[in-house]
Amino acid sequence: MTSILEQLKTQFTQALVAAFGEEMVTQDPLIAPTNNPKFGDYQCNVALSLAKPLKQKPRDIAQTLINHLQLQEMCEPPEIAGPGFINLTLKPQYLAQHLTTLQQDPRLGVETAKHPQKVIVDFSSPNIAKEMHVGHLRSTIIGDSIARILEFRGHDVLRLNHVGDWGTQFGMLIAYLREAYPEALTTANALDLGDLVSLYRQAKQRFDEDEDFRETARQEVVNLQAGAEDSRHAWQLLCNQSRKEFQAIYDALDIKLQERGESFYNPLLPGVVETLDNSGILAEDQGAKCVFLDGFSNKEGNPLPLIVQKSDGGYNYATTDLAALQYRIRQDEAERIIYVTDAGQANHFTQVFQVAKKAGILPEQVDVVHVPFGLVQGEDGKKLKTRSGETVRLRDLLDEAVDRAYQDVEQRLQTENRQEDEDFKHHVAQVIGLSAVKYADLSQNRTSNYVFSYNKMLALQGNTSPYLLYAYVRIQGISRKGNIDFSQLSAIGKISKPLTQLNWKPLLWAFFALLVGFLGIDITVRIYRELHSIPLLPSVFQLTGFFYTLWFIYNRLLFQKDRKKLWQDIQETKETV
Ligand code: ARG
Repeated sequence: MTSILEQLKTQFTQALVAAFGEEMVTQDPLIAPTNNPKFGDYQCNVALSLAKPLKQKPRDIAQTLINHLQLQEMCEPPEIAGPGFINLTLKPQYLAQHLTTLQQDPRLGVETAKHPQKVIVDFSSPNIAKEMHVGHLRSTIIGDSIARILEFRGHDVLRLNHVGDWGTQFGMLIAYLREAYPEALTTANALDLGDLVSLYRQAKQRFDEDEDFRETARQEVVNLQAGAEDSRHAWQLLCNQSRKEFQAIYDALDIKLQERGESFYNPLLPGVVETLDNSGILAEDQGAKCVFLDGFSNKEGNPLPLIVQKSDGGYNYATTDLAALQYRIRQDEAERIIYVTDAGQANHFTQVFQVAKKAGILPEQVDVVHVPFGLVQGEDGKKLKTRSGETVRLRDLLDEAVDRAYQDVEQRLQTENRQEDEDFKHHVAQVIGLSAVKYADLSQNRTSNYVFSYNKMLALQGNTSPYLLYAYVRIQGISRKGNIDFSQLSAIGKISKPLTQLNWKPLLWAFFALLVGFLGIDITVRIYRELHSIPLLPSVFQLTGFFYTLWFIYNRLLFQKDRKKLWQDIQETKETV
């Protein structure tokens, strides 16, 4: 089914051709949805861009165009605004009809992709032992939405969690584990390490203070990479603990994701360096292996290379991404790869893609894209922090949203004097709280920073999830009480107004006329009966009158109260929605 925008475009192209000639076939009609109802639903800017080539005033062009448009069915009469915009407002009947047709389509008019692709969406990707923070929340929510959209379009989507589960920080953590929890390295099964973030903090403190500890930590990195059994065990322990915490969040947010962390690509790293070497782009700079890139220089203007292997032999974040790219293209046969991270990593991805292209890892036909997003800020416009000044943990953030929603639900139930059990309240709070966070994130401009405000996102007014849910449940309530099937939008027009809303005078006259009519018939029949002595005939009329009155009382008067309430509900809902 063609979208409204497509239909408008076709209409405008036809009008353009009719008004200004065949060469207009290729002209983009420049129609877009407006962001302010003041300007109608859609706006067309084509008259402005045609002013020069046609050597006419934009407003004149707009008028000529309108004269050639056939939009009576879809739109109210188009209006010319400002220097020559054409504002279009859809007719409600047309919109209702369009939506009804859309509703009957299980795909709501969204077509499946003509050429389904194998797509990888790399998102969420938190780091082990460092708690997920709000940046990862954005990646999780945005990445999941992108994956859902692509899946709905019929692409074969692989959702990958590129978890930071490898790197030198593990040396420090394992060394600290050996000191603080010696039993952790020998017990076979998972030991509850408690809060991994505070463990990380303590380990970091030890690392910063003590030279001997630093040395042990360095040695642990070597052990881990060499595959020493107890170091591996400790590493597994840390990963499992983190995994459990991440999973709880994914479950709450209903997000499915396949973990394939940095460690997965570890065995492939030497091969990547070799590939770069073979393609002749590898250089040595102070003992480190690197690739010089176009367009990247340091402050002094000297070329800035991408280091793929440090002088001590260790590999970098970028090396892992090169290996991942290679694996995803060769093994997963990805045709499109989407990376969802904060905008701060834009350079990293530009560099990785550039090196990969030069080394032949990334062929022309594979589409790789970094989808950056802005930062989440506290209400003071700075980094989001807890009251005590620490980074806000995702878990706490979600819990707080649900808690606040719970308080609100409780208060509302109290004012309505309504009793509900705990399960109900928790369920509602969960739905409202979590959806509020998700919606607040998705309704932002993706690339700008936004201020995180519980009050704003949980508000029942404005562009929030609670508002949408509220409108939805009200409509459902009306549907239930009035037994109206809103899946047929036209049903809305079939609800009759309650009597109080009607114009009484003509109704009274009609009633009066009816009464006189009945009386007339009755008298005639009585005379007829007297004359011909037929006793049964008149009672037919009397019965009709009697039943009609009963029906009238039943339908109009007894149900009046319910109906009035329902009508009021509909009016209010119409206003809010
Ligand atoms: N773990 C990284 C971080 O927390 C994000 C990883 C993104 N994905 C990737 N393939 N580099 O910043």
